[in-house]
This record gives sequence, C-alpha cells and structure tokens, in this order.
Amino acid sequence: MSDESNGSQEEPQVLEELKLPHLFSNEKVRELHATIENEWDSLQRSACQTAAGRALWKHVTNDPVADLLAGETYLRSLYEKMTNDRINKAREVSGVILAVRTLWFDSKIQDALNSFSGGGVQVVLLGAGMDARAYRLSCLKECDVFEVDFTEVLQVKTTLLQEAIESAEGDQPLRMTAKSLNRVAADISKDDWLEKLKISGFESERKTVWVLEGILYYLSHANALQVLKIIADKSSITKTVLLADFMNQPCISSNSNFHFYCDWPDHLLPSLGFSSVKLSQLGDPDAHFGLMHDPLNLFNKLRSLPRSVQTNPDDGTPCRRLYLVQASGSPNQNIP
Ligand SMILES: C[S@@+](CC[C@H](N)C(=O)[O-])C[C@H]1O[C@@H](n2cnc3c(N)ncnc32)[C@H](O)[C@@H]1O
Repeated sequence: MSDESNGSQEEPQVLEELKLPHLFSNEKVRELHATIENEWDSLQRSACQTAAGRALWKHVTNDPVADLLAGETYLRSLYEKMTNDRINKAREVSGVILAVRTLWFDSKIQDALNSFSGGGVQVVLLGAGMDARAYRLSCLKECDVFEVDFTEVLQVKTTLLQEAIESAEGDQPLRMTAKSLNRVAADISKDDWLEKLKISGFESERKTVWVLEGILYYLSHANALQVLKIIADKSSITKTVLLADFMNQPCISSNSNFHFYCDWPDHLLPSLGFSSVKLSQLGDPDAHFGLMHDPLNLFNKLRSLPRSVQTNPDDGTPCRRLYLVQASGSPNQNIP
C-alpha cells in the first residue's frame, strides 16, 4: 500500500476535466513548485502526493487549497491514475484511501474536541505536510494548532498560503479557522522536536490532540516507538488523545520509504501507557463515509479476513492493511 495508492468507487463514471487553480500562473507559485520538484526528497514530496489526493477528492474533503499545495505534477499524476481506474471500471479508484483517511481524522478531531470540556485545547500535527486543517475545520476555532515538519516543507507551504491569501478574489477569501497556528520546523527523527514545540508555545499541562496522519511509517521502528512513548507520557500530565494511522507488515517492502509497521497497534498503545484504544479498518462503519460500498472492493475483502492473516488465501496477494487508530489517556487513569 502506498500513501498515494488505490481506493473505492461510488463516484461519477466520467471524471471531470482537471481544472488547475489560476494561481499556478503566478510566478512565485511556479518557482515554489519548481523548488519542490528540484530540491525536495521523496519524503518531503509525499506531502504533495497526499494533498493531490485531497484536491482530486475535494467534493468530499472540502479542502480549498489542496490543489495549490499539491502542485501540477502531483495533480496530473493522480488524475491520470483515476482516469485509468474509471476506464478499467476498477472497484477501487486511486486516492480514495486519502479521502477516507482525511474524513476519518477530521471526524475524530471533532469528537476529541467535543469530549474535552472547556476550551484551551492544543492540536499538534506531527509531519503536517500540506495539511490545511487550520484553514478549513471550524471545530478548531478555540484551539492552538502546531504544525511540525521539515523546515523546507513549512517554508514553502507558508509562502504558498500567503500567495493564496493575498490573491484571494470573490467572496471566499482564505482565512484561518484555528484560534492560532504555529509552524515548528523540526526533524522528528533527530531533533529535540518536543523542546522546539515548547519553545513555540506548546504547554505540556494543556489538553492536547495529537494528529499523526501519514507519518509513523516513514520513521524507523525505534523512532516511531519513541515518538509514541513521548505522547503516551504526556497523558500522565493531561488529557491526551492520539489519532494515528498504522501500516501492517505486508505494506513494508525493502525498496520503499516505509519502515515502521505494526500489526497490532491496539496492543502496542496500551503497553506504552494509553488507557483506551479503538482501531478501525478502511471500510468499517466509521471509516467509509459512503465511499466504499462495493462488498468486493479490496478493503471490504480484507475486513472479511482475520487480522492475523497476512496473505489472502483466495489469490495469494499480501493483506496490506491501513489501521486508523484513536487512543486516549488522562492522569486519572494512572491512579491505582
Ligand atoms: C505523507 S505526508 C503526510 C502529511 C500530512 N500529515 C497529511 O496527511 O497531509 C508525510 C509528511 O511527513 C513529513 N515527515 C516525514 N518524516 C519526517 C521527520 N522525520 N520529521 C518531520 N517531518 C517528517 C514529510 O515531510 C511529509 O510532509
């Protein structure tokens, strides 16, 4: 499974023509996208692939800047795959995983915020990439949002969004929906990213939602566990919710950017200190959003097999699963 890979149907059979934003003709925007093409590594470019998924599934994700943040190359590449999927009447149309994953995180962020009484909640997006939640989720209006990613990614993103704000026409100017937004440049595999967060205003004692979307599997095993442990430890200080997606072992191959996998995140997270864990698979009732009805699509086939099965007995294909996991903890749970 790749982050920019396949998904489901229930969509019009003919894809609308690809429309590119007017801002693509802006010189500064062109330069920024050229920088992405010429200077970013594949890890950083994964941010644009993900944004392309949200852009081409905009009718469900409602992301107003995903196309601008993705850039033409990634939009065209995914558009071509989606067109071929439609022509071939594929049961899973490319990008649907990203659409469902986006909607799942959106809904769980909202649920988590509803579950916290009072305001003052922090939302930390680790490996935020081209995520534009701080501009599109109204539930963040009382939240301080922190986006952590590589310096290069955050700089280009900030400038692209600034161009969008300055050039806004008509009655829908781009506005931040979060109470505040801090971009924190850090390599979470090396730096003391927690210290950098704190320097940027993050407070360990305040209720926090941690959003790890499309990031854990890019880390080494040791590093991913370290990040999860740091977050779990925070739950002994304050109410904490973790939202994360996990790949299972069959998703990982030696020649990809993916390293960390976990077949049983629902066992791992309690062992690190989280009290309550709920795991969903793509296609589950809280993870299909009306986009995965076909009982024979890949995700529904996988759901019908026990999670311990790693090779599909019908066709010998690897059972590549993406788990969507919410976990929480609070200081009270730690009192014996
Ligand atoms: C697949 S993208 C997902 C981005 C975003 N969470 C989303 O869903 O749109 C992965 C992101 O993680 C970032 N990333 C990967 N490894 C990182 C690291 N060690 N430190 C900081 N960011 C990292 C990449 O730069 C990229 O923006």
